[in-house]
Order: sequence, then structure tokens, then C-alpha cells
Amino acid sequence: MPSQAEIEASNALINDATAPRVSVFAGATSGVGQLTVRALVATGASVRIYLVGRRSAAARAAALIAELEAANPRAEIVWTEAEISLLAEVRRVCELISSKEPRVDLLFLSAGYAPFGRRTETAEGLEVCQSLEYYSRLLFVLRLLPALRAAEAPRVISVLGGGFETANGIDVDDIDLQRPGNFSAVKAQSQYVNLNSAALDKVAADNPHVTFIHASPGWVNTGNVHRGDVDPNSLWAWFVYLFLNPLIRLLAMSDEVSGQRQLFNCTSAKFGGKGVPWTGKPGINTLQKESGGLFIVSHRCETWPKETVMPVVREKAQPKVWARAQEVLGPYL
Ligand SMILES: NC(=O)c1ccc[n+]([C@@H]2O[C@H](COP(=O)([O-])OP(=O)(O)OC[C@H]3O[C@@H](n4cnc5c(N)ncnc54)[C@H](OP(=O)(O)O)[C@@H]3O)[C@@H](O)[C@H]2O)c1
Repeated sequence: MPSQAEIEASNALINDATAPRVSVFAGATSGVGQLTVRALVATGASVRIYLVGRRSAAARAAALIAELEAANPRAEIVWTEAEISLLAEVRRVCELISSKEPRVDLLFLSAGYAPFGRRTETAEGLEVCQSLEYYSRLLFVLRLLPALRAAEAPRVISVLGGGFETANGIDVDDIDLQRPGNFSAVKAQSQYVNLNSAALDKVAADNPHVTFIHASPGWVNTGNVHRGDVDPNSLWAWFVYLFLNPLIRLLAMSDEVSGQRQLFNCTSAKFGGKGVPWTGKPGINTLQKESGGLFIVSHRCETWPKETVMPVVREKAQPKVWARAQEVLGPYL
């Protein structure tokens, strides 16, 4: 496991040659994504960042962009408005970015929230959090794959819960948790984490030139636990207010540490050999080969190949997960 000093020393080496020159951040209007954008811009490198977010975040994004571009005049941040819980919107925004950029070096996906509260669906019939944390992320990946493949050292990072996969963690008979009584916060969070790894493991195997990471952010005090559709007078709301919030405040890493760790995930050659040179132990992916596997990365930037879990997932769940993804995403591909 790299120490924080090693992580920061690696990040200090980021320059025009090693920085992701063109990146797409979906979910960086706040939270871990925004902390990562801040850390990337602070390197002083020449970068173009597509900041994809919903209309309600536009004013916040404008202030953020002004601040970051003043701090690093070689950074260009392109506000790209889209309601990314909707697959049609993801398709539109990917077409827009692809029409402007022949290559994309980094795709960073971090939209979503802890799915506490009622099951709420998008106009396209998907549970909102599942769409943000899984289907829309996978659609971003599949639509931007040509531009990623064209880059020299392309990387995709999905920030959710890498490391928390279990062998039977996917309800393959109800992948979208639509059956009555089959949706709960705990089940949904576990399902979406496991779906991320099952699907990205397959895309990574099919695209060995691209480095794929499913990262865990650890505890970061972003207000994420308040975003679900929770009745403010419910027991759960009080539990969050009285217990979970103070606990997160106590245990959370600082914003700066989170940003540096994710920037390391974005740039270090520890993951797949391309990027800022890394002389420590190389990361191990789910195939335990240099490329073609998914890097499952803890909040401390260590890799977990999940060598007992992933073969079972690959055999028992992945074909059904992939078939369902084709059904859902097919119209948008
Ligand atoms: N923070 C933690 O401690 C922690 C721990 C474990 C896992 N995670 C997971 O890691 C990921 C990143 O976490 P975070 O703390 O960075 O999250 P966050 O700050 O709460 O939100 C990240 C992004 O999701 C967007 N978003 C939320 N709800 C949306 C909706 N209904 N429609 C469209 N966009 C929406 C936000 O947009 P706006 O800015 O417009 O609101 C923001 O850009 C999430 O999936 C989270 O569940 C976080």
C-alpha cells in the first residue's frame, strides 16, 4: 500500500507529458469528483476537462471553473450540461464530446449517492441511483471507448465501492431490483457495487489497452448520505442526523487527502504500467496479468485482485449481467 507521502510524491511528478490532457468527469460538480478535478488542475499541467453535470449545478460549476482557471491558466474546463441519470442524455453528451475530441485520456465517473429512502425511478424507468452508479456509467464507457482507445495511456475510473464485491453479491434474477419488496438501501448499494465490477471486468478484458479501475473513496464528508429520497421525519433521517453524520465527520479523510488519492489513481503507472513512473509494487488486477483485468482499488490506493470472488462472478453472474446491460443500453449504443 503506498503511503500518503508516496502518493503525493508521485502526483508532484505530473506534468504535461504525464497528465491526462483530455478528461471527462461525470459527477464532479461536487464531492470526490470535484476534489479530484481540483487536485488535477493544481498540478499546473495543461489540461482540458469536460465537467458534465445537471442544470441545477450550473451556477456552482461556473464559480468553480472561474476559480480553477484563475489558479491554473493552462487548464480549460468545459461546462457540459446533461441530466446524466437519463441514458438519452448520456448518449447526447458523449456524441458531443466525441465530435470535439478524437481522443480522451481519462474518464472519471463518480455520480451517485447512498440509495437510502424510497425507490425512485427516472423517466426511462430505471432506479435513479442504479442509473447514476451503474447504467449511465457503463454507457459513458461504451460510448467513449473509441476515443479512449485512440489515446496513448487511457484510463477509466468508477468511484463507488471497489473491494466490497462478494461471490454471490448480485441478484441475477432481479438485476434491477424491481420485484416488490426486493429494494432496500443495503441491497441496492451492494448490487450496484457488484454490478460495476462484473461489467467493468468484462469491458476491461475486451479492451486491454485501456486501464480500468473500480475505486472505493473511503469515508469522505461530501454530504452524500443526504441525497436519497428520505422522509425527513423518518427514523432513518434521525439515524443519519444523530449517528451517521457525526461518525462520518469523525472518520472521514480530509478533502485534500481524498483528492490526492484519486489523482494518484488517475495517473500512476502502478495501475497497468502506463502513467507517472511507479517503482513500488505494481498493482494487481482481476486477471492478475499486466493488462486486460479490472483494478479494484481501495481508498488507500492498494489493489485487491479478488482472486476467489471474481472467477465466480465471471462464471455465474457476468453473462446475465452483460445480457441485461445490452437490453437496457442497446437503444443508446
Ligand atoms: N463520500 C463517501 O464517503 C462515499 C463512500 C462510499 C461510496 N461513495 C460513493 O462514491 C460516489 C461519489 O461519492 P461523492 O461523495 O463524491 O458523491 P456526491 O458528492 O454526493 O455526488 C457526486 C455527484 O453525483 C451527482 N448526483 C447526485 N444525485 C444526482 C441526481 N439525482 N442526478 C444527477 N446527478 C446527481 C452530484 O451532482 P450535483 O453536484 O448536481 O448534486 C455530484 O456531481 C457515489 O456513488 C457515492 O455513493 C461515497
